Amino acid sequence: MIVALKIEKVREIVKKAKKKGKLIGFIPTMGALHEGHLSLVRRARKECDFVVVSIFVNPTQFGAGEDLHTYPRDFKKDKNLLKKEGVNLVFYPKVSTMYPKGFSTYVEEVSLSKYLCGKFRPGHFRGVCTVVAKLFNVVNPDIAYFGQKDFQQAQIIKRMVRDLNFPIKIRVLPIIREKDGLAMSSRNSYLSPYQRKVAPYLYKSLILAKELILKKRYSPSKIRKEVKKVIKENIPYAKIDYVEIVSPTTLRRIKKIDKGEILVAVAVYLGKARLIDNILVRVR
Ligand code: PAF
Repeated sequence: MIVALKIEKVREIVKKAKKKGKLIGFIPTMGALHEGHLSLVRRARKECDFVVVSIFVNPTQFGAGEDLHTYPRDFKKDKNLLKKEGVNLVFYPKVSTMYPKGFSTYVEEVSLSKYLCGKFRPGHFRGVCTVVAKLFNVVNPDIAYFGQKDFQQAQIIKRMVRDLNFPIKIRVLPIIREKDGLAMSSRNSYLSPYQRKVAPYLYKSLILAKELILKKRYSPSKIRKEVKKVIKENIPYAKIDYVEIVSPTTLRRIKKIDKGEILVAVAVYLGKARLIDNILVRVR
């Protein structure tokens, strides 16, 4: 496994692999890798001939007062995990490599980014789109892999790829959960033992939402209320950013439960940790 710090090095290595007819799979990450990331790597290994992972804690997607400086970083551990998974190339750039002095060009998706996390983290998806567009330009992959835990992010990336004509297929893979249901996240490491114990109630609240949706008897606003109740009653001091029931394609609130797919998405602060989770429900 090669570790490249420089853009030119990545370009050179990928170019050689492409010349040999290899299909390039790419997983962009911010490191602090867990089974969720590794599930993406494993799928890429199955579908592609050459797998690239980037590790870059992207400053432009963090707002003022967010956790940029405390975000977990352990490159040595990440490198060993990726080596074991048979990754071919790790791109590990410095901030100055991705954002040289005078950097002033950004990529912004302006529709899907207005909802859910976009409301609470202004500028976040602009930072995500900018860095992912840059990484796509550097790595030049055939297929890129994202997790469904960041459902909105994946939808926005798909839109960006379509709108800006990136010749890249986007795969979105299922959320990987701990045994007790908590969605895996690098930010789970911020949780105190007590917070960790009650955090699975987030997923339990989503399961309740799914059950209520499938009963087809309740309005989305009633279901949102019930979900909030479960969170408030079981996760003391949780600060709810949102509980939303939306169309998975537009990310807009739905007014009533109809046939088709519905997304229930939540974002909740447990102490320092802002946790997000979601569930897709198919109504027949
Ligand atoms: O999902 C993440 O880890 C990040 O948002 C991404 C896609 C690597 C961009 O920095």
